[in-house]
Amino acid sequence: MKDSLISAPRSCYCGEVTTPRVGRQIVLKGWVHRRRDHGGIIFIDLRDRTGLVQVVFDPEEFSAELFERASHLKYEDVLVVFGRVRPRPEGTVNPNMKTGEVEVLLSGYEILNAAATLPFPLDEHARVSEDLRLKYRYLDLRRPEMQRNIIERARVARIMRRHLDGEGFIEVETPCLTRSTPEGARDFLVPSRLNPGAFYALPQSPQLFKQLLMVSGFDRYYQIVRCFRDEDLRANRQPEFTQLDIEMSFIRPEDLYPVMEGMMAAIFTEMKGLDIATPFDRLSYDDAMARYGSDKPDRRFGLEIRDLTVAIQSGGCNFKVFSEIAEKGGAIRAIRVPGGGDKYSNTQLKPGGELPSHAERHGAKGLAWFRVVEKDGVTSLDSSIAKFFEPPCQAAIIAALEAVAGDLILIVADRPATAAVALGQLRLKLGRDLGLIPEGVYNFCWITDFPLLEWDAAERRWSSMHHPFTMPHPEDWHRLESDPGAVRSLAYDLALNGEEIGGGSIRIHRPDLQQRVFRVLGIGDEEARNKFGFLMDAFQYGAPPHGGIAFGLDRMMMILLGVESIRDVIAFPKTQTGTCLMTSAPAEVDDKQLQELALRSTARKKEA
Ligand code: AMO
Ligand code: AMP
Repeated sequence: MKDSLISAPRSCYCGEVTTPRVGRQIVLKGWVHRRRDHGGIIFIDLRDRTGLVQVVFDPEEFSAELFERASHLKYEDVLVVFGRVRPRPEGTVNPNMKTGEVEVLLSGYEILNAAATLPFPLDEHARVSEDLRLKYRYLDLRRPEMQRNIIERARVARIMRRHLDGEGFIEVETPCLTRSTPEGARDFLVPSRLNPGAFYALPQSPQLFKQLLMVSGFDRYYQIVRCFRDEDLRANRQPEFTQLDIEMSFIRPEDLYPVMEGMMAAIFTEMKGLDIATPFDRLSYDDAMARYGSDKPDRRFGLEIRDLTVAIQSGGCNFKVFSEIAEKGGAIRAIRVPGGGDKYSNTQLKPGGELPSHAERHGAKGLAWFRVVEKDGVTSLDSSIAKFFEPPCQAAIIAALEAVAGDLILIVADRPATAAVALGQLRLKLGRDLGLIPEGVYNFCWITDFPLLEWDAAERRWSSMHHPFTMPHPEDWHRLESDPGAVRSLAYDLALNGEEIGGGSIRIHRPDLQQRVFRVLGIGDEEARNKFGFLMDAFQYGAPPHGGIAFGLDRMMMILLGVESIRDVIAFPKTQTGTCLMTSAPAEVDDKQLQELALRSTARKKEA
């Protein structure tokens, strides 16, 4: 019995044992999820990746010895069980379980492997520190919630592949041992044993290779690919993360959008059963910054930012902070919170209070506020600074914001970009505080017409907003050298619910234009030749116009699954400090290994 049971093939998964199988003899394999002893009968919930099923050890059916052994079964022991499926007795049906109408009456079982006591209980409600979960990740991954995350991730990758295959894309692998790719982060370097003193860089993205595949004539490329960036980590960043990387030849942005929208719609329809409306809205970068104070606006709720500079300058403003900033070319920007007059107390609004502090953390120098009130049929503004605003100025502010009695108005005066960002962050807080962000809504939006360059104040030079291969807008080529800051690019991002889930651009495909852009970026001809000579060479031999995009798969999964931490959608993630608590990577290596690589470490060895 024993050997034949151990080797018996499984009849089905635990989660598949439902009413149609009643009366059948089945073999199941799985883990002891729970054990309960009830008046001489032992119940076990047996678990595998599909779910749980109740298994009953009835002493009537068993030898005393087998029964006695069963009372010692421990959580997470691995079993093979043999038994008959029967309906649960009346009153014991569990409607919350897929298999809740049946149970398996045991006739034999074997322990395939006994489990030691676990470092933490797998019970889904258990509060376990993340460090412990990461150290024993293989156990953490047994939890149904983590199983779901990883299985759904595979499903999304499958939908992506199916959709892109259907659209004529070809999946091509590109190297991991390569040269530095300029996505703007620090590289991870790999020393070369065969070429002492020389290093590979792990790719920050396959950017240059996918462009070269277009030069090779593949026309439509994709790859689900690991990217490596040595940057400071946050809740939505990992040092290695996964992109769905895409490149297409002979396209304009308008040709790329519908292909990507179709793929997103397919993903959300299949995963969420939702109809996603296409085409997605498009907003220029300037509009997104002006209206939402962000280049990845969360448009699931309103509270748009408006400009009050004209209203303030129309006369009657004796509030020096505002009039002086307006005169110096700054902006007075505001958010109107409909019916918000009684949502925040004076304590929360006054300097040092919750709302001003939030705006100041994001760059504002202060936050002014008014409640809109009505007295004798006249609408006016009320707050400690209202006295500095004469009635016509108050009326102009109210008109500009279309405000009504009961509203709250929040104002930041500053350089336009600073005011935008501070109010953008305040807007997100207000949306959360006031419960304005609906669940189950997925709001996609393309952000277009990004500036080509941004001024790096620390380095005192222009740097690429996207990357150096991004095509400047043809209407702006003439001012590339004379007014670099005003040049727009053919770059676009896809924002979803306030996250940037993808970004891309049309690329430069002519060596002369690429050289001009390099020069504006302060990359000299020699440096360009040295770093990107192969790309410049390739452009001389018939490079098609091309462009593409890359989506952050991990970030998409966070949104699809509604989880807060990127680590919960990655099987084996790194901590905030870039370590793997399970394998203890990164680790010191032997001196011999360093010698082979012609390296010497200057870091002090850890105390033994
Ligand atoms: P970009 O740098 O915008 O573009 O990256 C594309 C998308 O990848 C995701 N992402 C990340 N996800 C997790 N952890 C990180 N550290 C991380 N960094 C980026 C984001 C982002 O939108 N080669 C270009 C694409 C192109 O031009 O086609 C690129 O890599 O969701
Ligand atoms: P003060 O004149 O510094 O006492 O500020 C009076 C009010 O104006 C306070 O509520 C400040 O938070 C607010 N305030 C100060 N500077 C700004 C600014 N740049 N934008 C908006 N409000 C401001």
